[in-house]
Amino acid sequence: MKILVTGGAGFIGSAVIRHIIDSTADSVVNLDKLTYAGNLESLLDVSDSERYAFEQVDICDSMALQRVFQEHQPDAVMHLAAESHVDRSIDGPATFIETNIVGTYTLLEATRQYWQGLETARKAAFRFHHISTDEVYGDLEDPEALFTETTPYAPSSPYSASKASSDHLVRAWSRTYGLPMLITNCSNNYGPYHFPEKLIPLIILNALEGKPLPVYGKGNQVRDWLYVEDHARALYKVVTEGVVGETYNIGGHNEKQNIEVVHALCELLDELRPMQTPVGASLLAINDLADAQIKHQPMRSYKELITHVQDRPGHDLRYAIDASKIQRELNWTPVETFESGIRKTVEWYLGHADWVERVKSGAYQLWLDKNYARRNDKP
Ligand code: NAD
Ligand code: TYD
Repeated sequence: MKILVTGGAGFIGSAVIRHIIDSTADSVVNLDKLTYAGNLESLLDVSDSERYAFEQVDICDSMALQRVFQEHQPDAVMHLAAESHVDRSIDGPATFIETNIVGTYTLLEATRQYWQGLETARKAAFRFHHISTDEVYGDLEDPEALFTETTPYAPSSPYSASKASSDHLVRAWSRTYGLPMLITNCSNNYGPYHFPEKLIPLIILNALEGKPLPVYGKGNQVRDWLYVEDHARALYKVVTEGVVGETYNIGGHNEKQNIEVVHALCELLDELRPMQTPVGASLLAINDLADAQIKHQPMRSYKELITHVQDRPGHDLRYAIDASKIQRELNWTPVETFESGIRKTVEWYLGHADWVERVKSGAYQLWLDKNYARRNDKP
């Protein structure tokens, strides 16, 4: 099988491609615009494979998409390309509307045109797999409730609203035109090659630089964390074994408050890279913290860097996934627990300082300055 993966240079897309090349006999065409979040270095382990090809294309570019379909003749599309960061969507929603909604529409039309021209057997076997998020379901108010595949959509942020819109488009293309689609809605991922604007890599890297660890509001928001390689395996199962027209929720059964996640990261770093007594330059970076405490006493834990900052507007309090359908029907379960996955993740960041340095471009620094300066270090 040849699979066209959109957004393959991103965090989850690159894990999917590494999984396909390393663990299956299938071929991949990685179609990616290479925005700030796309990084071909995440694919260096597999990009020499004869079963891998790359196309730098924007999913909003209809002509380029048509060319790629004609040249590569894929058997399936796994659609991951998206703008993915909630805080950026609050700061500037336009690119989220453009890529997540207009881009998905443009990709659906290019796929439909190609799919309708396929001969009968290939047409019947073709799959369009749309990768979405649990954030389309909005906040869970009942502390016992879980998102199921039939939970009504109630997105809160420009990001989740744009993803919800794209899910609706995919379902409409299935119902109206018969395009054989599958949708997955997954909880928060973490793991290697995660762009350091998101909570887990941001906390690890700030801690290593002796910078404040910004926790939005009280840090009592709950997310259900899934190790990215478990997600990649689930996605491959869905595209190859899932029932056409179905939706599958994917989650890790790892509900944690943000503050618990930050504490877990600090404890692992305390063990794996114990903190030095701050001197010189590192003092400048943490001068927001209590002077007496920092300057005159040795630090004992990275937890001392935790700083509660202004909350995210419209912040969803709790997400949690009921993943029983994919477990029951496709026999998928996560391999990693939160404890094993988070340890692997911290170890990966400690061992890949070179990758980290290269993704921290000037544009990324500008984003950090903008996002955290305005939060003003106040809950
Ligand atoms: P990411 O931001 O790391 O990567 C997105 C990729 O898409 C990048 O390589 C980027 O260059 C590419 N891209 C962006 N705009 C494009 C365009 N117009 N044309 C072509 N390529 C474009 O995102 P991620 O975290 O890997 O998420 C991948 C998908 O999974 C997204 O659809 C996201 O909504 C969904 N998802 C993410 C999570 C999570 O925790 N990260 C959880 C559930 C679902
Ligand atoms: P994030 O990684 O941005 O994922 P999402 O918003 O898609 O869930 O954030 C995860 C949680 O961590 C979310 O509740 C917001 C919170 N958060 C912080 O407390 N501090 C931060 O600096 C960031 C980036 C996120």
